[in-house]
Amino acid sequence: MSAEKLAVVVLAAGKGTRMRTDLPKVLHPLAGRPMLGHVLDTVAALEPAETVVVVGAGMEAVQALVAPRRCVLQEPQEGTAHAVQTALAVLGDFKAADREVLVVFGDTPLLTAATLEAMRAERRAQPRPDLVLLGFRPADPTGYGRLLLDEAGRPTGIVEHRDASEAERRIGLCNAGPMLLSGAALFEDIDRIEKKNVQGEYYLTDLVGLASATGRGMALVEADEQEVRGINTRAELAVAEAVMQSQLRGRAMAGGATLVDPTTVWLSWDSRIGQDVTIHPGVILGPGVTIGDGVEIRGFCHLEGVAVEDGAVVGPYARLRPGSVIGPGAHVGNFVEVKNAQVGAGAKANHLSYIGDASVGPGANVGAGTITCNYDGFGKHWTEIGAGAFIGSNSALVAPVTVGAGAIVGAGSVVTEDVENDALAIARGKQKSFAGGAARFREQRQGHKKRDAG
Ligand code: UD1
Ligand code: CA
Repeated sequence: MSAEKLAVVVLAAGKGTRMRTDLPKVLHPLAGRPMLGHVLDTVAALEPAETVVVVGAGMEAVQALVAPRRCVLQEPQEGTAHAVQTALAVLGDFKAADREVLVVFGDTPLLTAATLEAMRAERRAQPRPDLVLLGFRPADPTGYGRLLLDEAGRPTGIVEHRDASEAERRIGLCNAGPMLLSGAALFEDIDRIEKKNVQGEYYLTDLVGLASATGRGMALVEADEQEVRGINTRAELAVAEAVMQSQLRGRAMAGGATLVDPTTVWLSWDSRIGQDVTIHPGVILGPGVTIGDGVEIRGFCHLEGVAVEDGAVVGPYARLRPGSVIGPGAHVGNFVEVKNAQVGAGAKANHLSYIGDASVGPGANVGAGTITCNYDGFGKHWTEIGAGAFIGSNSALVAPVTVGAGAIVGAGSVVTEDVENDALAIARGKQKSFAGGAARFREQRQGHKKRDAG
């Protein structure tokens, strides 16, 4: 039997009270991406006909993330059932018998599309259940809704932790949150939910008791705890981050990267890492990093928004910032910061440099302590270093400026004018030496010292 036309409702209007936050909870990042971004990606894999995200007032940043998908405003927030009702107001089409609605929570970002597909598969059974629940058995069920089953193992209700009796709190099987429903059943039952609980909210979970009482068919899929962790507190956010990091590290290693000490390497959701890459301890990859094959990232580097091409060597202690490309075989060494710059194939900047808004040609050598002076207090300016150029140590290249291919800049220069190809530029005070001057200086000082003492 073919799948029914699907609408997905993502609940994200909650204030995140338990996080103690001004930032909407679903925008708190996990592996460098707002948790809602993970959820939206996961549900997109189901190719729903409609996706509607329920947001609260003042959540413009959430709306921006959701666009071009649709947002509906739930104000005030009177519970998960009330949130779903708000979304149904724009999903009138899904009342029809051959439609289904999947409800997921924006605060459950580790959920996989495979689990949601398993829920959909349950709805293809005959007779079709009206409601598919997702359960799990957490090590510590505190805070979760408990699933009540009859002797035959059929769901009869969900009782929230706060409303549960001592005996009910001993139930290990919990509600993970997502629910898949026939559109017709959802539209019929949602308006029958009442506020009869400690929190005085409309609970979506009450659909289960209603469905049981009216003899609707229900099915239950069980998920792994790691996947359905809800994030309500900062401590839970940290646990979810650890889970996601371990998945990302596993993926990087499976792809042929050596992580010398995996737990000290922090990756982002979109990190792309090639084969035969070695990443040493203490490395952080922010969003937007691509690492080619055979690259070595030595200890304690911070990378974000950068492509490191095949065979390059980075660090230790390098900082690569957005807009940068480190060319094949290039070396960027200790205490070097690169921002919005291209470092050409085989070029070297090995020590203590700032290369910002610049292009370093292939094979160029940027000496220790070289700074591109890219900012004049008003705007940013570009520095161009030609192929094979040699920049002597402790030079300041005052942008906008070009050092031509094959040119040499003498150490300690402050370069304010363009240097032609193959030219030698020295821009510093001329050295003066005075024969015997040091000896005379010492004599003089010692004379003063004796006089002062006597
Ligand atoms: C919910 C479930 C609980 C389940 C747990 C799994 C209910 C009543 N309880 O509890 O059974 O074990 O998730 O993680 O559904 N939201 C709105 N509008 C509202 C209220 C909430 O959009 O008025 C959103 C929140 O932003 C959140 C989601 O709905 O993304 C769940 O709400 P939350 O308050 O976190 O529910 P839990 O107490 O975690
Ligand atoms: Ca929650």
